[in-house]
Amino acid sequence: NEEWAIKIPAVEELPLPSDFFWGTATAAYQIEGAASQDGKGKSIWDVFSHLEPSRTNGDSGDMACDHYNRMTEDVKLMASYGVDVYRFSISWSRIIPLGGHDDPINEDGITFYNRLIDYLLEHKIEPFVTLYHWDVPQELYNRYGAFLDTDKFKSDFERYARLCFSRFGDRVKKWVTYNEPYIISIFGHHSGVLAPGHSAANGHDTKTEPWRVGHTLILSHAAVVKIYATEFQPSQNGIISIVLNGHFYEPWNADSVVHKAAAQRRLEFYIGWFADPIFLGEDYPAEMRTQLGSRLPEFTVGERSLLQETAPINAFYGMNHYSTKFARALSDPPAEDDCTGNVEEAATNSEGKMLGPVSGMSWLRVTPHGFRKLMNWVWNRYHLPIIITENGCPCPGESQMTLEQAVNDDFRVRYFGLYLDAISQAIHEDGVIVRGFCAWSLMDNFEWSAGYDPRYGITHIDYDTLVRTPKKSALYLQQSFDERRKRR
Ligand code: BG6
Repeated sequence: NEEWAIKIPAVEELPLPSDFFWGTATAAYQIEGAASQDGKGKSIWDVFSHLEPSRTNGDSGDMACDHYNRMTEDVKLMASYGVDVYRFSISWSRIIPLGGHDDPINEDGITFYNRLIDYLLEHKIEPFVTLYHWDVPQELYNRYGAFLDTDKFKSDFERYARLCFSRFGDRVKKWVTYNEPYIISIFGHHSGVLAPGHSAANGHDTKTEPWRVGHTLILSHAAVVKIYATEFQPSQNGIISIVLNGHFYEPWNADSVVHKAAAQRRLEFYIGWFADPIFLGEDYPAEMRTQLGSRLPEFTVGERSLLQETAPINAFYGMNHYSTKFARALSDPPAEDDCTGNVEEAATNSEGKMLGPVSGMSWLRVTPHGFRKLMNWVWNRYHLPIIITENGCPCPGESQMTLEQAVNDDFRVRYFGLYLDAISQAIHEDGVIVRGFCAWSLMDNFEWSAGYDPRYGITHIDYDTLVRTPKKSALYLQQSFDERRKRR
């Protein structure tokens, strides 16, 4: 792709506001390792990756990047990159090994996160904390199926959240409840590619489970937002919200009313599913009700008023975004088990055109134009300041590269350059409010079902020695943010 080959971001960088912040993002299971060190309990990922190693490329997060034991080195690395924030998740089973509202607390786990937070602040890096990034304590899954029992789960999550706010909230001022509820619901309880791996093939009712799980996530998010606002925010002065992922969807045929409607419907099934109740205090999108009927749970009157009460407390829209796809309408009527809004995702359109160069993951194409459109779609619908909580890519063939090749990650540099340009355009040309950006990821890590194969890091990890080596993209981001923020 010639157009791609000649793009040199350093020359064309577009400005960003002077108070725009940037940082990196990680998740506990993907980097910490120390799976049973210092009293940590098991999460569903500790079990899933061992029960069926073939589902994780034969890998597990037992050791991962050993961040638990190398935390100070990693914070110093980030400081050398000049980051403003670090978005990380807390491992629930590290601080409450069994997870439940009456279960004992593991003070060693609390100490680890206290040390991390203090060390970040010493290095002038703001901690940005995700309470839940996919690793529910296994014991809660054993007891009642975790998200499948809304009331029991809610009470356990509330206790866990309270513990985090009370122990860390004096220093943590940015909170996220859940990372990507869509993935938890669909990938965990429909396709089953992620823990706990529920699918129709292993006997689960995938017609209803994902929607029940989504319902639990929405209501427990709202409950925790209310707890934060009433019990902690007055003295701690922080902000809280949720992180939603979503591709942008272009119609498979741009001239077709049917495929245009499919693209819109796909966004509603992906994003509106969570964002309409959480940010607008409304019911699920009308299209979802129409297509899913009684499979989609109803909100009670009390739940509706909780959503309405908490909607305005969410202070930002946490956006994880990587790529754009085409949306192609499937024929009516929808299949009973369909969870896509009766839409097929495609990499090429009706004319066989592709959207952009492919990265090291086949689903992830370089599509900054879609990113800009998604920021606009979200802004127009929810009117909330956006924080890009994850964005990045693996370079093609990166896992087969030598260290020298891998650290010269020009593909990733260009990807970031174009995506930052899109943010600049969304802000300055479209009037969208975007406040910050977290690169996924600080370092190569355990990429769930793909194991250690894809490398998303701006830092290279040698998985034999665990040596960390900065890639060119780390330096690029530092220089690019310095430059872009000076331009206005
Ligand atoms: C995001 C997740 O969806 O994408 C991360 O929050 C994940 O945890 C990242 O690592 C990359 O996705 P994948 O599917 O390529 O591992």
